Amino acid sequence: MQIAIDGPAGSGKSTIAKILAKNLGFKHIDTGAYYRWVTYRVLSENVNLQNAAALIRTAEQTDFAQIDETKIRSKEVTENVSTVSALPEVRRCVVAQQRLAARGSDIVMEGRDIGSVVFPDAELKIFLTASVEERARRRYQELLDKGEKADLAETQKDIVERDRKDSMRHASPLRKVDDAVEVDTTGLTIEQVVEKITEIYKERK
Ligand code: C5P
Repeated sequence: MQIAIDGPAGSGKSTIAKILAKNLGFKHIDTGAYYRWVTYRVLSENVNLQNAAALIRTAEQTDFAQIDETKIRSKEVTENVSTVSALPEVRRCVVAQQRLAARGSDIVMEGRDIGSVVFPDAELKIFLTASVEERARRRYQELLDKGEKADLAETQKDIVERDRKDSMRHASPLRKVDDAVEVDTTGLTIEQVVEKITEIYKERK
């Protein structure tokens, strides 16, 4: 069984996918972490972000079993990840690794292109949304909780910019596919969202 959860930045994909996977006993794969890990390596190895061939080479030489969660959520990685993820060859390489990681397990996979590209035949596709104000508030709170300095207006601007890049790119843009169920999480608690998706899952099973 494959559950695909797609949606824009701050829509709650990671939080929801993690809980859902735990409840169902499925494997959870955060595909954003793959693109972030390539971006972290690009930045730490001073690879020129304008050099597509070098970015592709870095992606091809990346070991995704080594993803370090403590390194991939920095402001610098977040600001540059959409540039790296826009390259079709980078995506081809990363998607192959994601499919490999999912092989043989029931999974909840979250990202931007799971229902459209990675697993177009997924049994259940969810498109998570929330108002941009709410998504910015969540991200802002996350940063404060991590003890980082943050500014709400700036966080919202960053989110809008990243969504714009992720939706406008040619290669596998962020979009809701026709057979995805849209779940608007504005004003809902995490528990309410999990409950809603669990209901949809049970209906489909
Ligand atoms: O989900 P997260 O915010 O960690 O994703 C980071 C970035 O990785 C996104 O802004 C997007 O550029 C890229 N991404 C993608 N396709 C996915 C998941 C993430 O292009 N399936």
